[in-house]
Amino acid sequence: MLDRIEEIRNEAETALGKVGASAELEELRIRYLGRKAELTTILRGIADLPPAERGAVGGAGNKARKELEALLEEAAARLDASELDAKLLADRVDVTLPGAPRPPVGHPHLIARTTRLIEDVMVGLGYTVAEGPEIEHDYYNFTALNHPEGHPARMLQDTFYVQSHPEVLLRTHTSPMQVRAMETQPPPIFVIVPGKVYRRDSDATHSPMFHQIEGLAIAEGITLADLQGTLLHLCRSVFGEEREVRLRPHFFPFTEPSVEVDVSCFQCGGSGTLAGGKRCNLCKGQGWIEILGAGMVDPNVLGFVEQHGYDPERVQGFAFGLGVERVAMLRHGVPDLRRFFDNDVRMVGQFS
Ligand code: PHE
Repeated sequence: MLDRIEEIRNEAETALGKVGASAELEELRIRYLGRKAELTTILRGIADLPPAERGAVGGAGNKARKELEALLEEAAARLDASELDAKLLADRVDVTLPGAPRPPVGHPHLIARTTRLIEDVMVGLGYTVAEGPEIEHDYYNFTALNHPEGHPARMLQDTFYVQSHPEVLLRTHTSPMQVRAMETQPPPIFVIVPGKVYRRDSDATHSPMFHQIEGLAIAEGITLADLQGTLLHLCRSVFGEEREVRLRPHFFPFTEPSVEVDVSCFQCGGSGTLAGGKRCNLCKGQGWIEILGAGMVDPNVLGFVEQHGYDPERVQGFAFGLGVERVAMLRHGVPDLRRFFDNDVRMVGQFS
């Protein structure tokens, strides 16, 4: 019996020395010290032994149990420590790593950003920003802008009309806001009008819908030189400080005189040739790029708002109309205007 106790003790000691997980340890505890364990059974049976053996077996059995209890506790402490170590290692956080990237939140479209840029420059010159209706009356879009009967822009093939309402159309330019703005306030007036306009046109540089920014300045004593200075400042702010502008005679029904405005090419610096003697592809060797139409507001237009304080004998001024897509294409080298409206994020995402 004493030998068996010694054997159990040694066997348990070896097993406890090798134990690798808390669950295993619990199994060993049950096997060697549980209610049905051999040692427990021996100790419980001491009373049935011959009296001469009871003392020795009891002493050895209790001693073995105490030792095993101590070994179990030791093993439990060892396991706890190593399991904690493993957990600490696995759950380790490297606080020097960069944080999780923020989810993408998008950004304004290049057309919106270009509009903002131009608005900022003009607001800096004291202009206010106004918006007007895209569905417009023939009166504001054409008649009050001095378009004669039979002007080609009025034709069905150029303009989107509303069927059954021949006097209503999608505005073909932002110029109708010239008269609308003057109806709301007497001179002096300095206003710009960004917005969508519509024409029956579609190719690489024309889209049926595009964006313009109208400018209108009416006060006493405004001249063509003021127009030139204003546009020079605008062009330098948008295309770079070295730019020059040039005015070429043109025709619009609602300005007199009318001009087309060119900005000196910002790719070749206005020379028309690139390093190595190659012809500049942006200005096609011209040195100048056409960017907008403008002119002195025709007295006939002011005649439509005379009752609002615009006496053509007293006040005069200029107007200009600029294509936002054209400015954006030039500044960012976008080859096809239709790409702005394809809604392809690979395209619009490039301009954040
Ligand atoms: N509205 C003209 C166009 O769309 C541009 C323009 C605006 C011309 C103001 C002169 C003055 O072509």
